[in-house]
Amino acid sequence: MCGIVGYIGSKNCIPIIIEGLKRLEYRGYDSAGIGFIENNSCRVIKNKGKVSLLEKKVAEGVYSPSVGLGHTRWATHGEPNEINAHPHYNADKSLMIIHNGIIENYQTLKTILINAGYEFKSQTDSEVLAHLIDSFLKKGNELFKAVRLALAEVEGTYGLAILYDKEPDKIIVAKKGSPLVIGVGDDENYIASDVSALIAYTSRVVYIEDGEVAEVFRDGFNAKTILDEDINKEIHKISMSLEEIDRGGYETFMLKEIMEQPESVLNSMRGRLLFDEGTVKLGGIQNLAERLAKTKRIIITACGTSWHAGLVGEYMFEQFLRIPTEVEYASEFRYRNPILQPDDAIFFISQSGETADSLAALKEAKRKGALVLGICNVVGSSIARESEAGVYIHAGPEIGVASTKAFTSQLVVLALITLLIARKKDMSLIDGQKIVEEFQAIPEKIKTILKLNSQIEEIASKFRDAKNFLYLGRGYNFPVALEGALKLKEISYIHAEGYPAAEMKHGPIALVDENMPVVFIAPKDSTYDKIVSNIEEIRARKGRIIAIASESDNHIDNLADFTIKIPDTIRMLMPILTVIPLQLLAYHIAMKKGLNVDQPRNLAKSVTVE
Ligand code: M6R
Repeated sequence: MCGIVGYIGSKNCIPIIIEGLKRLEYRGYDSAGIGFIENNSCRVIKNKGKVSLLEKKVAEGVYSPSVGLGHTRWATHGEPNEINAHPHYNADKSLMIIHNGIIENYQTLKTILINAGYEFKSQTDSEVLAHLIDSFLKKGNELFKAVRLALAEVEGTYGLAILYDKEPDKIIVAKKGSPLVIGVGDDENYIASDVSALIAYTSRVVYIEDGEVAEVFRDGFNAKTILDEDINKEIHKISMSLEEIDRGGYETFMLKEIMEQPESVLNSMRGRLLFDEGTVKLGGIQNLAERLAKTKRIIITACGTSWHAGLVGEYMFEQFLRIPTEVEYASEFRYRNPILQPDDAIFFISQSGETADSLAALKEAKRKGALVLGICNVVGSSIARESEAGVYIHAGPEIGVASTKAFTSQLVVLALITLLIARKKDMSLIDGQKIVEEFQAIPEKIKTILKLNSQIEEIASKFRDAKNFLYLGRGYNFPVALEGALKLKEISYIHAEGYPAAEMKHGPIALVDENMPVVFIAPKDSTYDKIVSNIEEIRARKGRIIAIASESDNHIDNLADFTIKIPDTIRMLMPILTVIPLQLLAYHIAMKKGLNVDQPRNLAKSVTVE
């Protein structure tokens, strides 16, 4: 999510770090910071906003340190501002850390450290690392050991880099779940969260693996496991171009983001599932859970893909909470003079948190005194700031205009909210625990679906010249049909419609002939028999059927021209799985037509105009 870069050698590290941060800025861009050691003391310069602002701020002084670190932030804990930007100091400013990832047990660690006399300056989870390492230095450990001992107490993910002015000739790095590489030079070395930040200087890299810690010197490095075992690291030669590296080796950002979903969905749940209690912890709305359980009506407001997520949310809320739920297009809601009651709760879903229609609708709801809650990806975005409370989806930066990983993370968060409130109502502990287990299994199931990529590409090759598409689903999978159709039309420019499967008989069936591809989202759930009847109806009219079906379903192979088999889960979570083949199908059709999927014509990533 965030970007890390560092240098140790004989040159002035500042231009190298600023250049590296600019290369990483697309990953996180709400604040930036640089830290270095000069004259045996640590110095940190940071600010809210772009790396270019940091560059100007640094240029106000005269520095030429030969060891330093830089960070560009995509906020997860604490709004984007100068204090929350990295690096973070320990108390006497002898040590600084930069961190990517999420420390899941930061509240527990923070309480222990506060009780031990440590004072916290920021709202971040990352700052605990600076004080925790400091506490081990105070016990007489040298830095490398202090870091290993500290990390043994940490739960969560990290790509971490540390400087300490009492040991000024080394950078310590560590990794668990967030990428970190060492770039090997001649009497100089680099560190980065992504090879794109250092490829201009060296093509020789060492990949730090989960559970490893390394001390990086000017003339070499030494790696160990957290448990103090020695390890030999291999130096790899990079042959990718810079552009390929930015996209993580994928051809496009969209494909990268589709493929990232096991991880992004996990990040949306990380530290939030409480198996023993059969519930979840959602810091942003925890203290509102009782109030939400008593809400008489929920309204979900959003645009585009976020609106589709809202429709899935409606099914979740009504099934488990038995609270009447309405889903509104933000643009319609704001101009309709909506009737709002004091005990209504309104959720605003927005990846960017900047969509003009959603923001204006939110302001209108606030004016009318409703409880306004945000579900956003971009921390500190306008919708997040204007909401009374909310839940971040933590999907990481989404660069492709077509929303993919943000959608699945929105669904995860809506399901987490459902579980939180349902457990305050009448859901039993056992039922809550079953749902938690289903959540935990989702990332692996997504990985299984992503392995079907080449099968889906093969299917896509048959439909590149199609002029129209129908997407049909029932229940929880009706919004998925809408989302599948939106994905296809926005990147392939093929006309596509999503419908509730039964509604097809009331008009769209007139379009069906041997040239009409019809995508059925037909997992084995309570609507399965009905959707099979709808498939038969399309077959009878010679439509070409692509079915997204359950792994265990052999019958459907006889009905559909193409089947894509996916694992099962509970109904509430099924859309997280069923949408993925549709993202890949749209993607491959568009690519086969030679189109720019990352920047489709006429569209913008963030629609900040009405
Ligand atoms: O940032 P938001 O979630 O508020 O954006 C809403 C829509 O503009 C967005 O989902 C749009 O529909 C995407 N291009 C869909 O892929």
